[in-house]
Amino acid sequence: MNKLTVKDVDLKGKKVIVRVDFNVPLDEKLNITDDRRIREALPTIKYLLEQKARKVILMSHLGRPEGQVVEDMRLKPVARKLQELLKEKVLRLEDCIGDTVKKAIETSAERVILLENLRFYKAETKNDPEFAKKLASLADIYVNDAFGTAHRAHASTEGIAKYLTSAAGFLLEKEITYLGKAVGNPQKPFVVILGGKKVSDKILLIENLIPKANTIIIGGGMAYTFLKSQGKKIGKSICENDKVDLARSLLEKAKAKGVNIALPEDFVVVESFDKPQGRKITADIPDGWEGVDIGPRTREKFKEILKTAKTVVWNGPMGVFEIDAFAEGTKEIAKFLAGLKGATTIIGGGDSAAAVSKFGLEQGMTHISTGGGASLEFLEGKELPGIVALTAKEKASAR
Ligand code: 3PG
Repeated sequence: MNKLTVKDVDLKGKKVIVRVDFNVPLDEKLNITDDRRIREALPTIKYLLEQKARKVILMSHLGRPEGQVVEDMRLKPVARKLQELLKEKVLRLEDCIGDTVKKAIETSAERVILLENLRFYKAETKNDPEFAKKLASLADIYVNDAFGTAHRAHASTEGIAKYLTSAAGFLLEKEITYLGKAVGNPQKPFVVILGGKKVSDKILLIENLIPKANTIIIGGGMAYTFLKSQGKKIGKSICENDKVDLARSLLEKAKAKGVNIALPEDFVVVESFDKPQGRKITADIPDGWEGVDIGPRTREKFKEILKTAKTVVWNGPMGVFEIDAFAEGTKEIAKFLAGLKGATTIIGGGDSAAAVSKFGLEQGMTHISTGGGASLEFLEGKELPGIVALTAKEKASAR
């Protein structure tokens, strides 16, 4: 990576402001239901402390409060969890800019400080330079470890980097290394598994991966649009009718490049979502029925392809895995990947990461991205503003 990382910067005695992505899921009682994003930020925080940074000032958003103070979106549960995982007292502040915040940073006994939700200010998402300057004025060095938010050009991810020496944290670096290698220089055979509801969310991804992949496996809701483009009957399964022609042309493009596209051949279908007990397995989806999962023959077919893969990128579940009766296809594929020897297995964030953790298979994967939208945009080949903004290595050495 041609950007500075925390290892390139002298941190001793410095106040370091770190953008983390602590946008974690909460239940109705505001309990964190998945703390992975917090756990993944720990190596950078611990390193900064070991290097004797004077203060580690953490900042994040939570949810989309759109410039309002929303009580349920305060970072209180995050501070509690962070303190527990870090085993160090964390000072939580009620704001993220201003004199009170500055004073608290200067006078506090705690080394780790968590600022309040950045998105309580509209200026954050507007990437307002004055707001970015105010954030920058709290510290001597800026570190970005928020891969999940690196696709946003916001004040805390992009704007602030104009005012301070800016380095990547370990999580950001790890994400770039794994995802970058997968799309830049994958060991072959390179198999991409795509799922999720919509083709329209994945068009750029498919286009970027066609020249690189050996096989693209398509399952989940998006498969029905592809199947329809091939004249298959899909009953009342989810379908983007305005994308059928596009799906057909993507299949043709792949064929012309010699890329194998594997589509499902049988399905778990239901007449109604509320009656999972009435589900059946079929190769032809009758009228009035909809597909909710890939069938057993398809699972075997996909596993056969994956068996020899050396690199696998997975983005999007194979069915409605949130409902146990429709989760088998996603689970079998996840299990197979977790046990795949000698292959690099990379799980895009969002739903696929949630599925892997639901089945307790996290340990078996090489890398599970903490980014949903960010990993998608990275795999689409886009440059992420939060990464672009960091100080380049050569620029730093020329100073
Ligand atoms: C995410 O959860 O994908 C990131 O935290 C970014 O959140 P956003 O989509 O609200 O910008």
